[in-house]
Amino acid sequence: MHLTPRPPGTPGAEDIASAKERGWRDLAPIDDAYQAGEITAAEWHAAVLNVIEPAYLNGDNPRAQSGHSGDETRWREARSLLVDLLPPDGGTFLDIGCANGHLMESLTAWAAEARIAIEPYGVEISTALADLARTRCPQWADRIWTANAMGWKPPHRFDAVRTGLDYVPADLHGTYVAHLLHHVVTPGGRLIIGVYNEERDRSTMQDLLRSCGHIPAGTARADHRHAEIQYKGMWVANTRSSQVAADAADGPGAF
Ligand SMILES: C[S@@+](CC[C@H](N)C(=O)[O-])C[C@H]1O[C@@H](n2cnc3c(N)ncnc32)[C@H](O)[C@@H]1O
Repeated sequence: MHLTPRPPGTPGAEDIASAKERGWRDLAPIDDAYQAGEITAAEWHAAVLNVIEPAYLNGDNPRAQSGHSGDETRWREARSLLVDLLPPDGGTFLDIGCANGHLMESLTAWAAEARIAIEPYGVEISTALADLARTRCPQWADRIWTANAMGWKPPHRFDAVRTGLDYVPADLHGTYVAHLLHHVVTPGGRLIIGVYNEERDRSTMQDLLRSCGHIPAGTARADHRHAEIQYKGMWVANTRSSQVAADAADGPGAF
């Protein structure tokens, strides 16, 4: 799910846009209303949730309840590159937007295959989805919070934190990254952006991150069933220099 950039209106481009982001038709008008100043950020989150929550809750399998339409093989193709973005020594991992908790389960298993031990945590803006995650993953029930990650201060920080930039309105990307680096990612830890779908020869998401003052320390990509698209991810090191960039976007905060 990515709200920016807009799919171009040329024939054939819609297939690519659809492959990149299922649901953009429903979400684009919400972006438009926000950009026009017709709704607040809180109303933007509520409107996006209004689209996502019923679709996920109606899913008849764990992947659909996390917003993925493929089978288990495709789920792994689409998500397992996250293993390459984890710290080699593992540690605590926070899935922002954990939905029903399926990525917490899957990534823990895939990382273990690569001899990386992670302790998964989750935060989810939807009360119903967070409840579902706690029910599905009772062993982690006390590690799954209901909150909007934008502005949320967890009880402790995490060695690796995964998010999408599209979890906030476009004009808040820099503020969001700054907030996560200041309050959610351990000093020296990794902020992981992805997985997102993007044309193989473009770097729109990396450019977006750079425009917020951050240079990815590492990237990963995997083939998509659509030849022009790839699954991609990247991570930012939570160092003092990334804090300087964060301060520029958000004002100084505690490291
Ligand atoms: C596409 S699903 C991701 C599921 C799983 N983490 C994955 O990567 O496959 C996005 C989830 O993020 C949640 N979400 C979106 N914005 C959020 C925010 N600001 N704070 C917390 N959760 C958010 C949505 O409700 C949704 O459940």
